Amino acid sequence: MEFSAAAIAVTAALFISFASTAVYSAENFTAASNLRRKLSTAGLCAIVIEPSGFPCTEHTTRTKDGYVLGLQRVSSPSVTVQECGSPVLLIHGLFMGGDAWFLDSPNQSLGFILANHGYDVWVGNVRGTHWSHGHVSLSEDDKEFWDWSWQELALNDLGEMIHYIYSVTYSKVLVVGHSQGTIMSLAAFTQPDIAKMVEAAALLCPISYLGHITAPFVLRLVKLRLDEVIMALGIHELNFKSNWGTRIIDMMCDGHLDCSDMLASITGENCCFNSSRIDSYLEYEPHPSSSKNLHHLFQMIRQGTFTMYDYGKWKNLMYYRQVKPPEFDVSSIPSSLPIWMGYGGNDALADVADVQHTIKELASKPDLLYLENYGHIDFLLSTRAKEDVYDSMLAFFSSLGKSSSF
Ligand SMILES: *[C@@H]1O[C@H](CO)[C@@H](O)[C@H](O)[C@H]1NC(C)=O
Ligand SMILES: *[C@@H]1O[C@H](CO)[C@@H](O)[C@H](O)[C@H]1NC(C)=O
Ligand SMILES: *[C@@H]1O[C@H](CO)[C@@H](O)[C@H](O)[C@H]1NC(C)=O
Repeated sequence: MEFSAAAIAVTAALFISFASTAVYSAENFTAASNLRRKLSTAGLCAIVIEPSGFPCTEHTTRTKDGYVLGLQRVSSPSVTVQECGSPVLLIHGLFMGGDAWFLDSPNQSLGFILANHGYDVWVGNVRGTHWSHGHVSLSEDDKEFWDWSWQELALNDLGEMIHYIYSVTYSKVLVVGHSQGTIMSLAAFTQPDIAKMVEAAALLCPISYLGHITAPFVLRLVKLRLDEVIMALGIHELNFKSNWGTRIIDMMCDGHLDCSDMLASITGENCCFNSSRIDSYLEYEPHPSSSKNLHHLFQMIRQGTFTMYDYGKWKNLMYYRQVKPPEFDVSSIPSSLPIWMGYGGNDALADVADVQHTIKELASKPDLLYLENYGHIDFLLSTRAKEDVYDSMLAFFSSLGKSSSF
């Protein structure tokens, strides 16, 4: 889907008005060189995981609304599948894909680390991302293809991925989510038929409420109602690797430094982000998402609620038989489902006040890891994430093993 000229102008104006320090410079622009590269049609296993020496197989499964999702199953070079521990499903954040868990070296990236610890690692990829495989009848050029928000990602995509892994492995699944992956997880766990297939969950930057978000760039876009502008312009797909998308990122990122600043104003100050790796990250990121999803997220920011998509009064009556969209009731997540959470003092998206709100509503008491100097991206890409975060998550998982039947 192409952006109309008007939309480019509007969006560019919004970005420029905020990012006044980002001066467009064609000669010196390097950050997006990888952004323009067309991704190969080979799968995540062949491109990202196997080159590091890890055995990997591609799987596909189909959601009840017809999306064909790609899943990858990864194990350690030195552990055979039979010896593997429990299945762990990794579920990525907004504008990311399953590659998010493998972006740094095998010693630093959670996907590789879990495989090396003997876990049966499954990599999730939601609809619309590069590693998923479209729809049984719709094309990506159809507006109906993009008619979904995180609500469908939670109830259909995540529900289906968990069910698929459960039926292949005959085992309950450990779920690890980051950011939007935690919104999806918390919403999905309120559904008893999904929760019963989940052994435990580790949530990085857990989000169910977004009312206290502090990211200046995001708040600016919320105030300017960018979500509504985009939808009014008839834009259904948000793809920063399209022509208009690369043009916008060109304008935002004048070389590596400004691009990191931009990242900080979206995610919060990241203590341990390696900005010399931006170009390599942009080889895969950002993945596409839908305008409706952005609108749903902005509704959460404006209203401070954790509910289904708000269509407006009349349409809500049609879809939900009530004027307000139904809430996802965090307190209904079974208290028997163990939860670990890692959150950061510098996270401008999963704000501490919102995380505490979520914790208060949970029926169980989650295990918590609080890192004062961590921002939103650090939980995925910090150069010290292994020591700071993943070791604690691994300890949580192995403490479960002692009391269960693995
Ligand atoms: C490009 O970068 C170099 C060194 O960083 C600088 O000297 C030069 O003025 C820059 N050129 C433009 C057009 O910004
Ligand atoms: C990865 O970690 C292991 C053990 O800690 C170490 O022996 C190895 O040199 C590390 N490899 C790299 C590439 O850093
Ligand atoms: C940062 O990234 C560069 C380029 O990939 C790499 O050479 C360097 O080792 C990284 N630094 C750390 C602390 O991981």
